[in-house]
Order: sequence, then C-alpha cells, then structure tokens
Amino acid sequence: MIDKIKGHVADVESFNAKTKDEIEAFRIKYLGKKGILNEYFAEFKNVPNEQKKEFGQVINELKTAAQEKVTILKEELENSQEEKGVYGDLSRPGEPVEIGSRHPISIVKNQITEIFSNIGFNVSEGPEMEDDWHNFTALNLPEYHPARDMQDTFFIQTDPDILLRTHTSSVQVRYMEENKPPIRTISPGRVFRNEAISARSHCIFHQVEGLYIDKDVSFADMKQTILYFTKQLFGKSKIRLRPSYFPFTEPSAEVDVYWGLETETDYRITKGTGWLEIMGCGMVDPNVLRNCNIDPQEYSGFAFGMGIERIAMLLYQIEDIRMFYENDLRFLEQFKSAL
Ligand code: DAH
Repeated sequence: MIDKIKGHVADVESFNAKTKDEIEAFRIKYLGKKGILNEYFAEFKNVPNEQKKEFGQVINELKTAAQEKVTILKEELENSQEEKGVYGDLSRPGEPVEIGSRHPISIVKNQITEIFSNIGFNVSEGPEMEDDWHNFTALNLPEYHPARDMQDTFFIQTDPDILLRTHTSSVQVRYMEENKPPIRTISPGRVFRNEAISARSHCIFHQVEGLYIDKDVSFADMKQTILYFTKQLFGKSKIRLRPSYFPFTEPSAEVDVYWGLETETDYRITKGTGWLEIMGCGMVDPNVLRNCNIDPQEYSGFAFGMGIERIAMLLYQIEDIRMFYENDLRFLEQFKSAL
C-alpha cells in the first residue's frame, strides 16, 4: 500500500491543469471529503503497528504535495488570465480615448503669437488688476481726459487708483519701463469693461497688444508688419489704414482687411462693403515714450491692439460673443487644433 501511495505522490507532482474545473476536479479527487487522502486516513487504524510510522509519513507527503499543487496551479491560472486581460487579443481596436479640445480663444491667441514670434516678437504679460498710471496716465490719458470715458472702467472699490485693466496697452508701459529698445513684444491677455452684455460685447474679453520700438521705425514698417500678419492669419493680402484717434499713438489708424464679397455671409459681416475692421494701431506718441524713460529723439515705434474674440468670431463665423464664456460642450467640442 505504501508503494501505491508513493505512486500517487508521483502522479500529483506531474499533474498539470489548464482550467479551473480541472484543478477543482483534482482537488476533490485527492483532498475532497470522499477523496483518496481521507480513504487512506481511514485505513490508518488497520495498518500494522510497525508500519504506522512510515504509512503516516507518506500520506502526509501526499497531502502536502496535493495542497501545494492546487495552490500553484491556481496561481498560474490567475497570472495567465491577467496577462490575457492586457495583451489578450492584439488585433482588438484600442480603447477609444476622448481627446479634449482647446478653447477657441486659446487657439486664436496661439495662432497670433506664433505669427508674430516668427518675425522676432516675444510674448509679455502684465497684471489684470492695474494702477491708473499704467492703464491711463502713462498712455497719455491724464485725469479728466475725455477719452477715459471711451472705456468704462471697473474700479476696485477701496482704492480709486486700482482698477481692472481696460486694455492690454498697459503692458506696453510696463514693458518699456523694464526693457531698453530694441523692443518687439506682443502681450495677449484678458481685459475688463463695464459694458452691457450682448451678442456683440461682453464685460470680459481678450486683446493682443503689439509694440515695436527701435531707431528709425516708420509708419511703413508698421503697415508691412500688419500686412504680413493679415496674410498669415486670414490669408488676405489687401488692407487699408483709416485715420483714427488713440491718445497713445500719433498718427493713429484703424486697420481694415479686405474680406471680399463672394458669399452672402461676406455681404452680411462686411455690411456690403467687403471690408472688415480688425485692429487699431499707430506710431507711439512721444509723450508715452517719455513717460517710460525712452528718448523720442532717439527712438520711435509703433503699437497695435486687437480683440481676440472679434477675430475668432470672424475666423469661425461665431454669431454671439457670449458663446465663448458659456462652456457649452457642444460648442467647445467643435474646435480641434494642434496649436
Ligand atoms: N488699446 C486700444 C483699445 O483697447 C487698442 C489699441 C489701439 C492699442 C491702438 C494700440 C494702438 O496699441 O496703437 O481699444
């Protein structure tokens, strides 16, 4: 009988199984209530005394071997199932990954900064909460200047000197105070005006300011720079500069781009003229240079400013500026861009 049990031990050790059911059948066969081991344990009392010791050792050996085998086979099975979970069917299509999208304002802002960085402009920033000097006074808008009314300002209640910037021109001043010419910088950012909210205007919006200061910078340099920009951004190569007024530039102009009159939409958005206004610009007023410790005898330059929402609305034909701030996913998901 002892040899028979040893034969079982050899069987157990060489046993292999691939499925849960096979392992369970194996466990029942050896370790189950009516299994082989229990049969031998019941037999124990009939074994002659002098053989009891050896008999006991071999059935214990068989028991341990069977238990270990079950544990090992179960582990192996689990591991192979885990691997299947990850690498199982290599021809399966990948899990669908939802890719987020950039906000249209960010896309357009990035496009504008990219275009200007290609011709040597860096990017600068300033605070959204400004003081009167940087937002108004240094820009040639002294106290009681009527042009201050053009931009309804949000003041910080406790201090009449502190306000939410009404334009990114404030960054011009900061940049000139801290950097010597030659200067080539653009300053994108958020601005604030106390205006009624409608499809066309909002109390929060975004601008990009541009500033170029060096020796002998002319109005022609400004025009060519802006023309390059409109070609790059809109693919339109005809612009016109209409005389205008800004306190911080002299002379000042408004830039129109020729959009064309090919479609009905062109007629509508250009009001039948084919022209669209896209930004304000001008030669930096000598007073502004002086306010920022730059000698207007030695240096000259130009500046320009544009609204990002307005440009995004033109590029994407968005009818209502409020769409930008409502975070409606159905709107936002339409914008996919690498920029
Ligand atoms: N700051 C002006 C605005 O908010 C835009 C502007 C016009 C900026 C002319 C300029 C400029 O730098 O030269 O409407």
